Amino acid sequence: MPDRYAVFGHPIAHSKSPRIHAEFARQCGQKLVYEAILAPREGFSDAVRNFRNDGGRGCNVTVPFKEEAYSLCTRRTPRAEAAGAVNTLSFQGEDILGDNTDGAGLVRDLTLNLGMGLAGGDILLMGAGGAARGVILPLLECQPARLFIANRTAAKAEALAARFHIHGGGYADLAGKRFDLVINATAASLGGDLPPLPDALFAPGALAYDMMYGRDTPFLAFARECGARTADGLGMLVEQAAEAFFVWRGVRPDTAPVIAALREA
Ligand code: ATR
Repeated sequence: MPDRYAVFGHPIAHSKSPRIHAEFARQCGQKLVYEAILAPREGFSDAVRNFRNDGGRGCNVTVPFKEEAYSLCTRRTPRAEAAGAVNTLSFQGEDILGDNTDGAGLVRDLTLNLGMGLAGGDILLMGAGGAARGVILPLLECQPARLFIANRTAAKAEALAARFHIHGGGYADLAGKRFDLVINATAASLGGDLPPLPDALFAPGALAYDMMYGRDTPFLAFARECGARTADGLGMLVEQAAEAFFVWRGVRPDTAPVIAALREA
């Protein structure tokens, strides 16, 4: 019997994770199956418990269950603790180990796929929700000169930044500041909105990164107009999956062909 894995979410039908993990397994010669499971909004914990009782070895967790997954764990990695959310569960005997591979996935996409040096750079992170919080510790571990958090609700950015001993504020606080990397972790792109950004935001050679993927966003269009390099979140999606695969199986798949295949599709 192949080892069983799954991704839980609501909705989940359009998840690319089964395809990504099937490709990783094929590439690495690992015998496993990976399915997408729709958990009821009020039934996430039960769904995971059933999956585990049926022999599941681990699972990924996506919107809206990452915080609930955090509570479900008996042990957590430091990056999951910092994120306050869990996207990767490993069932080990009685233990449920919680990890969060989103930040590592973002950092690997930025550094390995996009050739962005983060050490000593000025980084702007837009947003102060779960998506933003999930990537702060791995970004700080790259030792940027500065990581500033900007959010529509400035107080939320200030509170989140304070947890990590960095600075945060509203978009008005960005006047006069320039960044080498600007990451959009807001939900603004979903509604076709653009946070109010000053024109002179991007340093020469800067990269604008939208965590959303699959369509051009107002943020990326704005960044292009300002002369910045742009990237969407498809690489992060594949890299966070590869990091989860590594957590479970101890082998690192080659992500480049998987990213290329998804982009073509
Ligand atoms: P997620 O888990 O995806 O981060 P969330 O916790 O709901 O989702 O957070 C959404 C983030 O997108 C917040 O930072 C939100 O700003 P507020 O805290 O001010 O609500 C931000 N956001 C959503 N729509 C936005 C918009 N149209 N312009 C700017 N920021 C927006």
